[in-house]
Amino acid sequence: MSIINYNKKAYIKTYGCQMNVHDSEIMAGLLLNKGYEVTANMNEADVVLLNTCAIRGKAEDKVYSQLGVLKKLKEKRPGLILGVGGCMAQREGEKIFRRSPSVDLIFGTHQICNLPTFLNEVIRERRKVIAIKEGKISQEGVKAYRADRAEAYVAIMRGCNNHCTYCVVPSARGRQNSRPPEEVIKEIEDLVEEGYKEVTLLGQNVVAYGKDLGGIDFIDLLERVNEIEGIEKIKYISSHPKDMSDRLIETLPGLSKACEDLHLPVQSGSNRILKAMNRGYTREEYLKIIGKVRSLIPRISITTDIIVGFPGEGEKDFADTLSLMKEVRFASAYMFKYSPRPGTPAEKMSEQIPEEIRLKRLHEVIDLQREISEKIRNF
Ligand code: SAH
Ligand code: SF4
Ligand code: F3S
Repeated sequence: MSIINYNKKAYIKTYGCQMNVHDSEIMAGLLLNKGYEVTANMNEADVVLLNTCAIRGKAEDKVYSQLGVLKKLKEKRPGLILGVGGCMAQREGEKIFRRSPSVDLIFGTHQICNLPTFLNEVIRERRKVIAIKEGKISQEGVKAYRADRAEAYVAIMRGCNNHCTYCVVPSARGRQNSRPPEEVIKEIEDLVEEGYKEVTLLGQNVVAYGKDLGGIDFIDLLERVNEIEGIEKIKYISSHPKDMSDRLIETLPGLSKACEDLHLPVQSGSNRILKAMNRGYTREEYLKIIGKVRSLIPRISITTDIIVGFPGEGEKDFADTLSLMKEVRFASAYMFKYSPRPGTPAEKMSEQIPEEIRLKRLHEVIDLQREISEKIRNF
């Protein structure tokens, strides 16, 4: 059934990481294909979609407060359709209807490609729709609408097979699911035709690419993308330190287009905390990777993610994080204060760190990183 919705305007608001930004590009592409217009102005939209994030409590709070604003807008314009998709929709499900009765559609991370069908059901049958079933996403034949004309996101995998004890991503996005290499290559070749010279390969842990397919790994994929004529720069995020093999590090310098940036989240500099986080590497192993990468690619820019105030983090553990930051001298870092997430093992750990200490430590790492980044820039 293909119902074309001419003249309907959709507005998509995105929360969270690059994968969500790209999912919104896919949603926009699907809607444009069905005759919707995509608008940047929420006030003129017939359909408002929130593509949500669940990584920290604050991310969810923002969505509920936005839904409060939208409820008022809907009171003025009763025909307005409200949809909530993404990671929070996947995890919260029905609860969103209960807390925000003005929502018409809840769709999970595995269902984005069916968005036009769900909207048709809401519009034609005037009923609420919830679709949060897990399953494989096939992007075949789906054309994302990319607002950025210089750098294109390309999802090479979805989901995550790790079990970091603080993290909701595995529950929000399911198990790792790598896209077939041919599909990825074809998408990038098409992007070159459109004029793109720079791609960012996306995944929760790109260096584990292919482990669920067999017969191909991330190195093979990078080599194939590196060969695509017209592509000048390849970025990839994120990489998990435990999967950074020596072979990958040794291959990188030969990949002329892929060796300028490395985002390698460390999370903590304390072995005790890394263990409690279930990260699967030690501080020493992490530093060894950094040493090896820098000796082979001296100009590489290394960035990271850091969490402070994880349960049980004592002064000594926190000092270990500061000293690791000083030792590595990251070009930049995303720094977060630990947020206990429902359903994760860390939420139930004893020794939760009081909010004021978490906040104080967050300010400390931010100040330290600012100093380091400034020195690097002025070097
Ligand atoms: N897959 C990526 C990270 C995805 S989430 C990776 O493993 O590298 C992005 C970042 O959010 C994480 O690296 C972590 O630093 C932070 N984060 C995740 N869960 C968190 C939580 N419960 N509280 C605070 N920060 C968190
Ligand atoms: Fe979350 Fe860990 Fe997977 Fe990253 S690797 S998405 S932090 S579980
Ligand atoms: Fe948030 Fe989901 Fe990304 S929880 S960080 S939008 S994978």
